[in-house]
Amino acid sequence: MPELQLRPFAPEDTPALCHLYAATTRAINGQHYTRLQVERWAGFADDQAAWCARLGRNLTIVAEQFGQIVGFAELEPGGEVGYFYVDAQRQGQGIGTQLMQRLLLLAGELTTTQVHADVSVSAMPFFAAQGFTVVARLEPMVCDAPAPRYRMTRALPPR
Ligand SMILES: CC(C)(COP(=O)(O)OP(=O)(O)OC[C@H]1O[C@@H](n2cnc3c(N)ncnc32)[C@H](O)[C@@H]1OP(=O)(O)O)[C@@H](O)C(=O)NCCC(=O)NCCS
Repeated sequence: MPELQLRPFAPEDTPALCHLYAATTRAINGQHYTRLQVERWAGFADDQAAWCARLGRNLTIVAEQFGQIVGFAELEPGGEVGYFYVDAQRQGQGIGTQLMQRLLLLAGELTTTQVHADVSVSAMPFFAAQGFTVVARLEPMVCDAPAPRYRMTRALPPR
């Protein structure tokens, strides 16, 4: 894999992250959810000001290759993994693994002993490969159809 740079989020990343999120949601999550559900989620990226505020408030890591953003991951102060996305054209190249390793390292520096995530069906095998365990299967209704997700947790090594 070409060298990957991991760095903190900067406000000027917002348009690229919103674009990556919407495109990946359509291409990857669209394999497991209905078109209406995927369009609703992709539409969240339309409010770039809200994204910028949220990602800036949380601990957000951006992955770059050759100066181009190829993924990002967000951690809330309580240990909740929020947005976690890799460019749809660069899936399966180890970018998600590197983002997760950095996220877990940073989580270990916070006053948290566990990390949690509500994970899509699409991402569940990845989170399982990263040491997360399913604690519940959630089945909210979104756009009049079930939208299954998994509640997953992972313990952090003692500090
Ligand atoms: C989940 C996601 C971030 C993983 O990123 P990635 O860069 O493709 O992950 P990696 O290449 O580091 O994969 C690492 C390992 O995870 C597992 N994995 C990843 N995607 C998988 C899939 N779709 N099915 C099964 N296993 C998968 C594999 O074990 C893989 O290792 P290996 O192929 O070398 O054996 C990416 O697929 C994604 O952006 N998904 C859509 C967005 C999403 O649902 N995000 C989670 C929000 S809840």
